Amino acid sequence: MDLKTAILSRRTVHEFSGESVPQDLIEEALNLALWAPNHKLTYPWMFYLIGRETQMKLVELAVEIKAASPKPPSEVMLGALRQKLSNIPQMVAIGCKKVDDNFQQREDYATVACGVQNASLYLHEQGYASKWSTGGFTRNKKTYEILGVDSAQIDIVGFMFVGKGSPPPKKQERPALESVMVRVP
Ligand SMILES: Cc1cc2nc3c(=O)[nH]c(=O)nc-3n(C[C@H](O)[C@H](O)[C@H](O)COP(=O)(O)O)c2cc1C
Repeated sequence: MDLKTAILSRRTVHEFSGESVPQDLIEEALNLALWAPNHKLTYPWMFYLIGRETQMKLVELAVEIKAASPKPPSEVMLGALRQKLSNIPQMVAIGCKKVDDNFQQREDYATVACGVQNASLYLHEQGYASKWSTGGFTRNKKTYEILGVDSAQIDIVGFMFVGKGSPPPKKQERPALESVMVRVP
């Protein structure tokens, strides 16, 4: 797959088949994340490869959070959420090291985001889908406890869910370039 095709055809996948992802493939994808541009070479990333035992704790946390929401879903819906999250073949928590300098923090987050895109494009090219999620449990303080991550040191900026799956049928759109591009003489 050439790069342009990979960029244009990569889509976020929300439902995974459950088929496992080879660990060496995940590691290669994360290794490619490290080749993102990184101002001042601060190396801000941390990746937490989540095993099954921890994933199940996170799934229960996600269900707990949903059940405690102002409009809690039915037991059936909670069961469906449990199933959907359990089915994710590989969760990776994405961390960004915290620094006192606001400008560097912003630049470090940019590096992490570029890294995630490197990883997801590579996974896509290899036939695996991914989703960057900042939903529900991914930002909860209990997630830090479950992962053993010190929130004073690391900001969990999201999770990557990786596996086999088809993107939703809804057609993706992007704004026309002319609407966001200004030629400045
Ligand atoms: C920082 C970030 C956080 C995201 N968090 C979520 C999320 O919590 N839930 C979700 O369904 N999609 C999430 N996404 C995926 C976007 O919804 C998705 O990229 C967007 O719909 C465009 O679709 P595409 O990735 O297929 O082009 C996130 C994407 C980014 C970059």
